[in-house]
Amino acid sequence: MSKRDKLPIRQQEPNPRRAFLGTSVALGAGVLGNAVLSACSRGEGTAGVAEVGSGAATHPGGHAAKTHVAPGALDEYYGFWSGGQSGEIRVIGIPSMRELKRIPVFNRDSATGWGGTDFSKQLLKDRVSGDTHHVHLSYKDGTYDGRYVFVNDKAAARLARVDIESMEVDRITEIPNSQGTHGIFPQRHKTGYVFCNAEFRTPQPNDGRDLEAAEKYGALHTAIDGESMEVKWQVLIEGNLDLAATDYEGKYSFATCYNSEGGTTLEGMMAAERDCLYVFNIAAIEKAVAAGNTIKIGDSDVPVVDARGKDSQYVLRVPVAKSPHGVNVDPTGRYAVCSGKLSPTCTVVDIQKLADAFAGKIKPRDTVVAEPEVGLGPLHTAFDGRGNAFTSIFIDSVVTMWNIDKAIRAYSAKEGDKAVDPILQKLDVHYQVGHLNASMSETKEADGKWLIALCKFSKDRFLNVGPLHSENDQLTDVSTGKRELVHDGPTYPEPHDAVIVKKELIHPQKIQPRKAARFQMYQAWAKEDGVDLTRDNKVIRKPGLVRVYMTSMAPAFGTSEFKVKSGDTVQVVVTNQDNVEDLSHGFCLSLHDVNFLVNAQDTQSYTFKAGKPGVYWYYCPWFCHALHLEMRGRMIVEA
Ligand code: CUA
Repeated sequence: MSKRDKLPIRQQEPNPRRAFLGTSVALGAGVLGNAVLSACSRGEGTAGVAEVGSGAATHPGGHAAKTHVAPGALDEYYGFWSGGQSGEIRVIGIPSMRELKRIPVFNRDSATGWGGTDFSKQLLKDRVSGDTHHVHLSYKDGTYDGRYVFVNDKAAARLARVDIESMEVDRITEIPNSQGTHGIFPQRHKTGYVFCNAEFRTPQPNDGRDLEAAEKYGALHTAIDGESMEVKWQVLIEGNLDLAATDYEGKYSFATCYNSEGGTTLEGMMAAERDCLYVFNIAAIEKAVAAGNTIKIGDSDVPVVDARGKDSQYVLRVPVAKSPHGVNVDPTGRYAVCSGKLSPTCTVVDIQKLADAFAGKIKPRDTVVAEPEVGLGPLHTAFDGRGNAFTSIFIDSVVTMWNIDKAIRAYSAKEGDKAVDPILQKLDVHYQVGHLNASMSETKEADGKWLIALCKFSKDRFLNVGPLHSENDQLTDVSTGKRELVHDGPTYPEPHDAVIVKKELIHPQKIQPRKAARFQMYQAWAKEDGVDLTRDNKVIRKPGLVRVYMTSMAPAFGTSEFKVKSGDTVQVVVTNQDNVEDLSHGFCLSLHDVNFLVNAQDTQSYTFKAGKPGVYWYYCPWFCHALHLEMRGRMIVEA
């Protein structure tokens, strides 16, 4: 650590961020070598920076009014955040940035019992960690239909679906032949396919063959039916697949590829000057699947279209800026913007020209209509619905606002003609921004009010909480055309992506509607045992299982004691009879690692082994009544 780093932050002026860039991030750049550093000098020298905004430090307290949502008042937007390594989804109110809820997805959650309840264990298959990256809602006619949230698990190649009515996960699908499932995107004309990209190339099948033959590795672009959550087909590709996008008409899906070289080392993955945007022609792929022109890989029965090697009717490779990361389609549906990552540019592909490229009338690269220089390390792009784009710039720690039409005009102008400058503004963010998104940006109803920048480092922005710092989700007001930073939002690591959705489109229930698939499971048990879930308190002893049906109504369980034998497998099925908004109960059993939530009108179940002989109190852990502490009973374990 240099002496400079030990100075109090105020003495590091003029710009502590630059000092930071000089240390940690330079390490990253050093690894990346000349690619990044040469891009740096190019980018900074030519981009026409209209204005560099500054951090909130220069506007002490000046923006409180914009994000202030008065006590008792409601936010304008729902934000759906992936929780990254926490494995969850978070629901945030915008613009207040108040965290409203966490939806456990791939993680073990003590509060709700997710990962321990019978239904969640069936979905998770006893795995309780995950890495959620991308949250996207189901669509109809180019905007959100308010039914589902989809989210990926990069760690175990899964796609989960949240039912918005109950705001809980109802399905999890495992994706065959894949590792590092990263980018996902649903179709936008209807709840059709959700496309999932495998970021890591592996032997296909990955069964011990071709371990060292990296040239034979491949990755899969997977189509999952958003209604049934079944894997319908896959496309096998030679390169890796990173972020995903779809058009607005259901014709194409997209994947960026940062490793068209097929390298297995960092240097190998960065060798080529250009990588590609894979464009998948859905009608042609579906035709091949219907005709049986497919292969099977390993144990999976999913039909796979083998599109490795060269352009075909199935897949087109559009050369784009080196090592692209994000691909985002603008609200008009016309342009796919690929952010360069190792090039200071974004590549704009005209989706209307793709049909001619597939037909061989033009070259794939002829679909590129602009390549503005936006800064060093562009990652993702959002839109304001007024023809402007916002690109997150990781290494420069800025969000660059640029105009799409101007970028197209500048690209078609003669070399060296700088009369048209598409760059409108660069705004500092704190620090090292990854994803960003604007309100309704991924729909045809993009409204350009709020922009969120999910910053990977918070460094000096919050009170020191030890070596693990919080992330910093910064909210920017973009409604006036002059962007202003209005909120610093510390978040537990590590939100990866977010969408901001008009509240009018989201209608969760206040009482459990009992429509989810898991209720059929409880009903089937109750029928088998001759029990009415909503009324009965009964202990049913079966071979190998003691099933305890129990109701709850503030401030009492319907069962004040039950008896089991030590070592019995016990399944407690609790139904909350209260039909009152916000009246949740739970069931927590002393010394047995059993703790779960039962919302109003809900049923939940949990299976465990009864411990050593003795008395074990169970209690309601949710404050539900003045006599909440008395809401308990005894499990009596006999020898
Ligand atoms: Cu029910 Cu506390």
